[in-house]
Amino acid sequence: MNLKSLTNWYLNNQRPLPFRQHPSPYGIWVSEVMLQQTQMETVLRYYDPFIKKFPDIKTLAQATLQEVLTQVQGLGYYRRFRLLHAGAQHLLSHHQGYFPQTYEEVLSIPGVGAYTAGAIMAIAFNQPYPATDGNVIRVLSRVYDIQQDMRLPKSRAVIDKLHGQLVKKANPRDYIQAVMELGALICRPVQPNCQQCPLQSNCRAYQSGSPTRVPVISKKSKPIQKEWQTLLIIKNKQILLRKNSENLLKDFYLLPQWELSLDVVEQWLETHGFSPLQLKTLPIVKHVFTHQVWHMQVHQLLVKSGEDLSGEWFPLKALSTIPIPEAHQKIIRTYFPQYASIKAL
Ligand code: ADE
Repeated sequence: MNLKSLTNWYLNNQRPLPFRQHPSPYGIWVSEVMLQQTQMETVLRYYDPFIKKFPDIKTLAQATLQEVLTQVQGLGYYRRFRLLHAGAQHLLSHHQGYFPQTYEEVLSIPGVGAYTAGAIMAIAFNQPYPATDGNVIRVLSRVYDIQQDMRLPKSRAVIDKLHGQLVKKANPRDYIQAVMELGALICRPVQPNCQQCPLQSNCRAYQSGSPTRVPVISKKSKPIQKEWQTLLIIKNKQILLRKNSENLLKDFYLLPQWELSLDVVEQWLETHGFSPLQLKTLPIVKHVFTHQVWHMQVHQLLVKSGEDLSGEWFPLKALSTIPIPEAHQKIIRTYFPQYASIKAL
């Protein structure tokens, strides 16, 4: 691999990203957590407002989880932000709110795995640690034409080891970001722009005539399909929500919903004293998660009475300040556009 042409290319072609101007460990941590599951374009809409609201570790640690989740609502995969919040609290109680500078200490922050610890060490502290993400897997497996199945941890370990050797021979900060940037801009999953690639003359996959033959990534199992009866229950301009305790979307507020037939739901309404003044059955709303697809049959009810002890009533006006996952934001945006959070539009 020609490290000089790679880093030169990066220095001349990098995107001006907000977290690259003055790379602080806190800023890099936040950006890497956001970028783990989300496209750069989307992250760019959330990053600056997040840093404005939580400018440092202490502010983030002292915010409530609800404030944090509201700020990132729309990005999905919320476990990473619950861990980011817990991580900030760990830094406040164990490191006086400062970022530790050894790899072991960074790795011991809740939610920080080898990838994020490596990215912080290399980008913020310019230390030679690898950070292997999908971009890196693609670039290195093409340059070296590595044909192992990258769904397997042992194949990823091969790339990680190679990446660890390369970062030691270069300026870590520039090299790490250069590989990520090359993967994002040139060495794309489909239609890589090999003509503009600084590594073209080193690239074995390019030389093979079919650069996209690697990486090889075997198919995932099919997502589970779930069919819900989902209720918009409105009483005195308030809506009924329930705080979720299941692992998927834990601590978010959800509309009441059941994977049961409509008659069972009607019985539940009756036993809880909800006698709808008006009931409308609305079209099915679909939402795709990584391992699940939800098909939500929405019913809108206007009620005068009725209570649900496992739920809470929120004024419709306050909806945009409550962490509600995208699956249900879609419903709220459709039926109450004036009250929906605008972020995910
Ligand atoms: N993807 C994840 N982290 C990145 C970074 N620092 N630069 C470019 N793309 C990235």
